[in-house]
Amino acid sequence: MRIVIVGAGVMGCATALELKQRGVREVVVLDQSVPGAEASSAAAGMLAAQIESRDDAELDSFVAARNAYREWTESLYDATGIDVGYRRSGALCIFRDQALFEQARLRVEAQRARGLACELVDGASARHIDQEIATDILGAAYFPDEAQVDPPRLMRALLSAATRAGVTIRSGTTVSALVTEGGRCVGVSAESAGAHAREVLRGDAVVLAAGSWSSLVPGVPRELPRVRPVRGQILMLDERSPRLRCIVFSDHAYVVPRGDGRVVCGATMENVGHRREITASGISTVLNNSLRIAPCLGEAAFVSSWCNFRPQVVTPSQGEAGAPLVGASSLPGLFVATGHHRNGILLAKAAAVAVASAIGVQSH
Ligand code: GLY
Repeated sequence: MRIVIVGAGVMGCATALELKQRGVREVVVLDQSVPGAEASSAAAGMLAAQIESRDDAELDSFVAARNAYREWTESLYDATGIDVGYRRSGALCIFRDQALFEQARLRVEAQRARGLACELVDGASARHIDQEIATDILGAAYFPDEAQVDPPRLMRALLSAATRAGVTIRSGTTVSALVTEGGRCVGVSAESAGAHAREVLRGDAVVLAAGSWSSLVPGVPRELPRVRPVRGQILMLDERSPRLRCIVFSDHAYVVPRGDGRVVCGATMENVGHRREITASGISTVLNNSLRIAPCLGEAAFVSSWCNFRPQVVTPSQGEAGAPLVGASSLPGLFVATGHHRNGILLAKAAAVAVASAIGVQSH
């Protein structure tokens, strides 16, 4: 069996590795640029299942994905020797607004009723959990089991594990169309950098894992919900000597201390297409929000900033992000692993397992 995967981000590589581990003879992953260089490496790497989920179904699947993560990172370490920075650092959501604090109380009570670890604390108790957070808050919700990984290291480990397992990864290869015969997707037509001719790469199955570029691949069925880019601008500070301990959220802003002094601060949510631009207002918003979360970050060194594009599934109402696209599509032979919006890192392994099973490749 030969499987062609479009996109060498965290979805494509995790799926490729899963398929190889299940015994698929040939897995080829194509990437238009540098493998893992897009949203997968740009992410903050939070495994914030209890905070990012929006309903009970998401809560169950996100928590299951988070709880399985340590074992996955250990298996990647065994295969490659690369430590992906998994840490159960816990997360605080801090509140200054009474109405939002009351909503958080309901969320905490509902999650506790499902047996999940979380508590509502006042401002003083929140500062016992992390003494660096702002003093002017009403209180916080604390989620001790939330965790994080370092996405660039995760990508390195995944690429290394996939290559060692025998996956072929081809960078600089743009898919110009899905190839369909008799109503079935049988491969892709691709152009490689430097090559003059297009080639057709045939496969028993094709997996579309092209993140926010997924809807731009010619031949994608009309019925597949559109995936659009939502730009996130993000930055890295360095405290030198680590002070902040916990992941801390406030509204849409967050700070993620890596434990070694580096702190990732994010992120904007912007519908600007694929405009790859760091803007003055974007970075000033992220910085101001971060300093409102943890004033001590004002002393930290500014290291770098970057942006990338979350793949968001567009719903008919154009409102909230739709559910990710995972599994079989309406076109036989075409499978999808895309549209994970804010949670691609968290859900990568779960999506890989689901896609492999949908293709019909069983685990041993
Ligand atoms: N998961 C956080 C973000 O997308 O900014």
